[in-house]
Amino acid sequence: MSPFLLTRTLPEDATGAALRADVRRGLTSAPKTLPPKWFYDAHGSDLFEQITALPEYYPTRAEREILVDRSAEIAAVTGARTLVELGSGSSEKTRHLIAALTDLDTYVPVDVSESALSQAGHALIAERPGLRVHALIADFTAALALPETPGPRLVAFLGGTIGNLPPVERAAFLASIRALLSPGDALLLGADLVKEEGVLVRAYDDAAGVTAAFNKNVLTVVNRELGADFEADAFDHVALWDAEHEWIEMRLRSRVGQTVKVPALGLAVDFAAGEELRTEISAKFRKEGVRAELASAGLELSHWWTDAEGRFALSLSTCR
Ligand code: SAH
Ligand code: TRP
Repeated sequence: MSPFLLTRTLPEDATGAALRADVRRGLTSAPKTLPPKWFYDAHGSDLFEQITALPEYYPTRAEREILVDRSAEIAAVTGARTLVELGSGSSEKTRHLIAALTDLDTYVPVDVSESALSQAGHALIAERPGLRVHALIADFTAALALPETPGPRLVAFLGGTIGNLPPVERAAFLASIRALLSPGDALLLGADLVKEEGVLVRAYDDAAGVTAAFNKNVLTVVNRELGADFEADAFDHVALWDAEHEWIEMRLRSRVGQTVKVPALGLAVDFAAGEELRTEISAKFRKEGVRAELASAGLELSHWWTDAEGRFALSLSTCR
């Protein structure tokens, strides 16, 4: 068997159909929204990688620090032979974990971004000969059909991506992960922590404007896929801290009154000057909240590690 398999679990036009449905719903809602998974075309994945290197964007460095320090312990506790990673992107930080998991047989990266999966998969095989990599192009919020691989299974969800799901979807998502686990399996979850507002806002509104470009990339995706005529320059990137919900909210604010056409949907969408289109939230967490959300999904928090500055946490939990 070839050590690298790439499986598309979505029918060929699923992406197009889902994009059309999401964009129609989002642009006809009040307030207008666009769902975040559409940020990650090849250019979006590339921009996200640039974000991870920005001086203001601390989560990647903080989580890498924890993985470097704790991977041996994670390997000892889990003894994982299969590592499933949801929203794996470049798998860059995951290398530390893979290197420590000495009994690992198969790595299953799951992502909507085919370009990220194939780059990461080939790099990993070169680095760890003998490792099977079975990449899945799939939406992790939909039912996942995982390949038959040896247990114990460790499911990793890194990067704080859990915070990009609104609370109701988050609960459903954690329950669906729980359903993938058998006794002896574990979940490794990365969560960004509540901290001073200025630090948070700067992480999502960097001086070089990379996050602004990333946020506006969703407009480019809609233009390309649905023939829309969004002008990226007619919108400003907005990142604000919602203290009540404890999340960062990303928006695109229309600079002027304008009408955007979306021919594939037969839509003409009016934006008032200053009107904001909501694109993504990034929730920040506290230990007791994470513990409670895991418990609601039938998972028991067993380990909690943070970086030295206490900015980001990795938790390990097992089935109850
Ligand atoms: N885990 C990496 C990447 C985080 S960025 C890190 O920690 O740096 C979020 C990743 O999740 C991107 O690679 C994006 O393509 C993927 N993603 C976002 N929504 C998704 C969905 N609904 N299903 C599958 N992958 C998704
Ligand atoms: N999972 C990342 C986070 O919440 C995604 C992200 C980083 C993001 N910067 C962004 C999403 C800007 C939208 C816009 O930190």
